[in-house]
Amino acid sequence: MSQKFSERALSEIATSLPAAMAVFRRHNLDYCFAGNVSLADAATSHGLDLAGIETELAALASAPQQPPEDTEPLIDRILARFHEVHRRELQMLQALAEAVEKVHAGRPDVPVGLAAFLKRLTAELDSHMQKEEQILFPMMRAGRHPMIGGPIGMMRREHVEHGRQVAELTALTGGFVPPEDACGTWHALYTGLRKLADDLIEHIHTENSFLFPRFGA
Ligand SMILES: [Fe+2]
Ligand SMILES: [Fe+2]
Repeated sequence: MSQKFSERALSEIATSLPAAMAVFRRHNLDYCFAGNVSLADAATSHGLDLAGIETELAALASAPQQPPEDTEPLIDRILARFHEVHRRELQMLQALAEAVEKVHAGRPDVPVGLAAFLKRLTAELDSHMQKEEQILFPMMRAGRHPMIGGPIGMMRREHVEHGRQVAELTALTGGFVPPEDACGTWHALYTGLRKLADDLIEHIHTENSFLFPRFGA
């Protein structure tokens, strides 16, 4: 692609150069839900150094690229890298959120309602992942299926809802920045939640942009 990175949309860069996802996350650039803006516009609105980001991306683009994964290994990687990890981390994060809300109750900066929010998120995400694991992914592993557009459309709609939940989580935690005098548990909670949010966005982008388009959706 000869077009300059600055003129290309974030989502398109992330799809053609998956290593760029880590660069965008580090700079808090949303390549998944609001990814249709150009890198130049995103850098301007976030007050970022455009030339520096372009240099990082150029270095990634000149490195040897992995060939695209076949569908079966891609699904296996989604299950191991995202589904299993979300389930494991959400358990731990719920316990940390309960502890922080309880121990620091009454402080104005405590994230009131965070543990309950994580409980709902865990249930919704688990139900979504179960549908992929039990219905959609087996259909994909079996090859094409005339009815596959239905479940893919449903998963895409649920991904939009998950994006809204990531925004809500970011707001609840003030952008995952703990107060200056926060205890170790509070720091661990926000560090873990930031990783969960980053993973969830990468998970959704991987399904929406790499897996689903293989099935004409
Ligand atoms: Fe998934
Ligand atoms: Fe999904």
